[in-house]
Amino acid sequence: MSAKIISGKELANKLRLELKEKVNKFILKTQIQPHLVVVLVGNNPSSLSYVSGKQKGCEQVNIKSSLIQLSEETTQEELILLVRQLNSDKTVHGILVQLPLPKHINELDIINTINVDKDVDGFSPINVGKLSLNEDSLLPCTAEGIIRLIKETKVNISGSHAVVIGRSNIVGKPVSQLLLRENATVTVCHSKTKDIKAFSRNADILVVAIGKPKFVTVDMIKPGSVVIDVGTTRLDNGKFYGDVDYEKAVDVAGFITPVPGGVGPMTITILLENTFKACVTQYNKAK
Ligand code: GUN
Repeated sequence: MSAKIISGKELANKLRLELKEKVNKFILKTQIQPHLVVVLVGNNPSSLSYVSGKQKGCEQVNIKSSLIQLSEETTQEELILLVRQLNSDKTVHGILVQLPLPKHINELDIINTINVDKDVDGFSPINVGKLSLNEDSLLPCTAEGIIRLIKETKVNISGSHAVVIGRSNIVGKPVSQLLLRENATVTVCHSKTKDIKAFSRNADILVVAIGKPKFVTVDMIKPGSVVIDVGTTRLDNGKFYGDVDYEKAVDVAGFITPVPGGVGPMTITILLENTFKACVTQYNKAK
């Protein structure tokens, strides 16, 4: 093994301790406790597990969390009505509607309904636009978590060649934007890219977010590079697997994130930071 392991768990714990102090100071000053509401429609097992991680995270940093669990049959109109109620509730600072939603609900219509200042996922068109314009905004949690992990390595992002495999709205697109903001030269590969290896093997920084276990084999990795694995697929043996063939990649990469314990804890940590930031912004606007 030659790669240094980038522990998302360790960094997340450190950041959560720092955040807890800030939250407690804010509560002392204002008597307001930041409050995140998570809305879950249906019983998707992965979503249930993500949501419980988010609630535990809130407890750690003294942020209040509420879970609103709705049946699979909830209509789009009912969900929009709920989001509107949460938008106008001054005791709610962050709203997260867990994705994916059942097929009969249009995700963009729901995301569009969430008040921009409460959009702690950073998925609303205004926050996405601000991200691309380099304006201050609530940043998508996984993407920002990845940037923090890369910064932990002290490897220069500026001037590096960063390759992102995956172009989802949740990870691939926003992380590409953030890498560009950090002055990387960014290549985005996806399912229609003809020869992904031709790009990935030249990547100083490789981010993989496609949800295909062990898709990135060791021959696709540039020796000494930073490899960030966003995939978490649970296979029949009950274990989680990343998108990178970790056992072999660890001999070639310079730095690599493990699965689990890499990107996952950072996503939740940034969500907690976003909820606090949203709360402070709303407090300052109301003053
Ligand atoms: N489903 C998978 N990842 C996410 C996320 O970051 N936010 C939301 N709302 N749903 C998700």
